[in-house]
Amino acid sequence: REQLKAQGKQTGTPAKRVHVIGAGVMGGDIAAWCAYKGLTVSLQDQDGGRLATAIGRAQQLYARKFRRDLRGARAAADRLIPDPQGAGVAHADIVIEAISENLEAKLGLYREIAPRMKADAILATNTSSLRLEDLSQGLPGGRQLVGIHFFNPVASMPLVEVVHTDATPPALRARAAAFVGQLDKLALPVRSAPGFLVNAVLAPYMLEAMRCVDEGLAPSSVDAAMEAFGMPMGPLELADTVGLDIAMAAGKQLSDGEQPPACLVRLVDGGKLGRKSGKGFYIWEDGKPQKDA
Ligand code: NAI
Repeated sequence: REQLKAQGKQTGTPAKRVHVIGAGVMGGDIAAWCAYKGLTVSLQDQDGGRLATAIGRAQQLYARKFRRDLRGARAAADRLIPDPQGAGVAHADIVIEAISENLEAKLGLYREIAPRMKADAILATNTSSLRLEDLSQGLPGGRQLVGIHFFNPVASMPLVEVVHTDATPPALRARAAAFVGQLDKLALPVRSAPGFLVNAVLAPYMLEAMRCVDEGLAPSSVDAAMEAFGMPMGPLELADTVGLDIAMAAGKQLSDGEQPPACLVRLVDGGKLGRKSGKGFYIWEDGKPQKDA
């Protein structure tokens, strides 16, 4: 932990302005955390509804964190600016892409935004399963991409993976780690590889829990067993929290051609994506799984 903290020590000028693209499960919470930590943040999404939901979630975070300090909560909320058209790209010291897990969509977005970014701004992706080498193909103007991979829920997970390839300039890795340090998170440097480090361990665990459901166990029984073992949250509640489409993408990438669990395919095909859609392994109400339902 001390070593990781030291790696996150600031080198160069701290970032002041962040632009986050994608206001879904992750992007919304990343933007909220950055504003909580004092940065000015513009948040972009093509879906106005997702943008509004993310701003609402940020306000809940600030109410929890600042409690009676209404002025502090207000100041943090004011630093988080909804930006549906993406004007903030041109002013940001760092642009964090957190749109849906789709290679073509991400490449198209980079082509569009890279020419508008400041010359020395960092372009970062929050991808959990796409190869950084593939995402870096043909970036305009020789721009480099770095992975800054947050975990869900952003506000309570201290670790952030900083993902690099052999082609990533050391200075960019250092600046990305310093940005993570600025957010009071621990930057873990990892090479671009399937699942990076954490998901390479986590995905097989979640998929195995789903195979237990395929064999007839109730999700709540599987989760209760793992919670009794000491996990803060069972694997199926975690999968619902992550988003089942995202869990499917990560599982496919790590499964060596093995078929995904039937229950996962059924839920995703039926649009039941977990917490974000209100239904998954559980029915979700007010951000909580209804385990008896
Ligand atoms: P999500 O589906 O909740 O949100 C994606 C958002 O991107 C949506 O609101 C969508 O409207 C927006 N979007 C899509 N294309 C866009 C475009 N061209 N311009 C503007 N907005 C666009 O997805 P989630 O779960 O937040 O994942 C986002 C990224 O973060 C993915 O790359 C995923 O692999 C990664 N990730 C997800 C984690 C999780 O627990 N869900 C954990 C860590 C990383």
